[in-house]
Amino acid sequence: MIKMFHLIFILLSIVSFVGRVILAQMHSEMLEQKWIKIGPHIVNTLLLITGFVLVFQGEWLSGEYGWIVAKIIALLGYVGLGTVAIKSQGVLRWQAFAGAMACFIYIAIVAVSKQALFFL
Ligand code: HEM
Repeated sequence: MIKMFHLIFILLSIVSFVGRVILAQMHSEMLEQKWIKIGPHIVNTLLLITGFVLVFQGEWLSGEYGWIVAKIIALLGYVGLGTVAIKSQGVLRWQAFAGAMACFIYIAIVAVSKQALFFL
């Protein structure tokens, strides 16, 4: 059940992120709307909360938990680079966007493989 919510918030998070980058590029004035500003914060907070609930529900900390630490660090990258992508312009925007997407994909692969260094 919680995992289903986690997956829904993941979907909402990536859709709202890509949507805000498109708005920043094409209709940046729309980013001033209150719900567009607050909505993604609520979604990302709920994503984090459901992630932590899953950690305790699955007793993941009693085993090898490097992958969870890796997910949290990559999440900081996703949020940080995502903010840069929305607030900056030009080449920097697209570099930050690519970085944020790479973090997101890395998190998803780590989630499924339970391996922080799955590529080794
Ligand atoms: C952008 C952020 C995130 C993405 C894309 C993501 C992705 C996923 C996906 C795809 C799954 C399902 C894995 C499977 O069923 O095999 C999952 C499960 C899980 N995630 Fe996340 N996650 C994110 C954030 C977090 C955070 C921040 C935490 C911890 C604080 C976390 C902890 C967990 C746990 C413990 C599971 C359950 C693993 C299982 O039961 O198999 N996630 N996540």
